[in-house]
Amino acid sequence: MTRALSTPPVIPSGFLADSPQPVLPATGNLLLRPWEPADAPAFLSAYQDDETRRWHTRRPATETQVREWFDEYRQDWQREKGGHWAITRDGGEVLGRIALGGLDFDDGIAGVGYSVLPAARGVGVASRALSALTAWALDEIDFHRLQLDHSTRNHASCRVATKSGYLLEGTKHSAAVHDDDRHDMHLHARIRGD
Ligand SMILES: CC(C)(COP(=O)(O)OP(=O)(O)OC[C@H]1O[C@@H](n2cnc3c(N)ncnc32)[C@H](O)[C@@H]1OP(=O)(O)O)[C@@H](O)C(=O)NCCC(=O)NCCS
Repeated sequence: MTRALSTPPVIPSGFLADSPQPVLPATGNLLLRPWEPADAPAFLSAYQDDETRRWHTRRPATETQVREWFDEYRQDWQREKGGHWAITRDGGEVLGRIALGGLDFDDGIAGVGYSVLPAARGVGVASRALSALTAWALDEIDFHRLQLDHSTRNHASCRVATKSGYLLEGTKHSAAVHDDDRHDMHLHARIRGD
């Protein structure tokens, strides 16, 4: 398709997909790496946790479905639609997940999402993983703006975002369906150079 932009894209097409998805180190022996089929039980176990279910309405039901999601994640990278990483201890035990989605190369924008398994919460896993992914996306890929949203009732997520330099930009009223209700959503963003 012929592009009709008057400005060059912030990130050229092929910039991500021409290289394998990277493994990203984070402080405290965390390693963000692509998902592997053997991670399916750990990934699925997250959705047995009430807190995870409270904030995430899209849930896999079986390990087979999780492995299908992992296939979609690989395709997302190849099609430059997103990147999905397991947050691990030294590349082994899965502690959580973090992802980039909604990639817009023309404007240099991406969305971020994360969650951490119950046993690994409260020791900075989400914050450290988010800082590592953010540094890579801004400094090595040249995204200009990274954004995330969370329910206004999810105070832990709000804290993770703010701690990692994603400033609160406002509230999107009645913006997302959760199991109990529609929720207002906070919009946070981190801008390159800020
Ligand atoms: C939100 C979540 C990802 C945080 O992961 P984590 O690894 O425990 O987060 P961190 O340890 O990096 O940081 C947590 C911060 O939130 C704070 N926090 C934790 N629970 C909180 C609460 N209920 N209210 C306010 N702050 C809270 C912690 O004190 C810490 O801040 P501090 O370092 O200033 O003390 C994790 O709780 C989770 O996966 N929850 C369920 C799923 C979810 O909410 N996903 C995000 C959807 S947007």
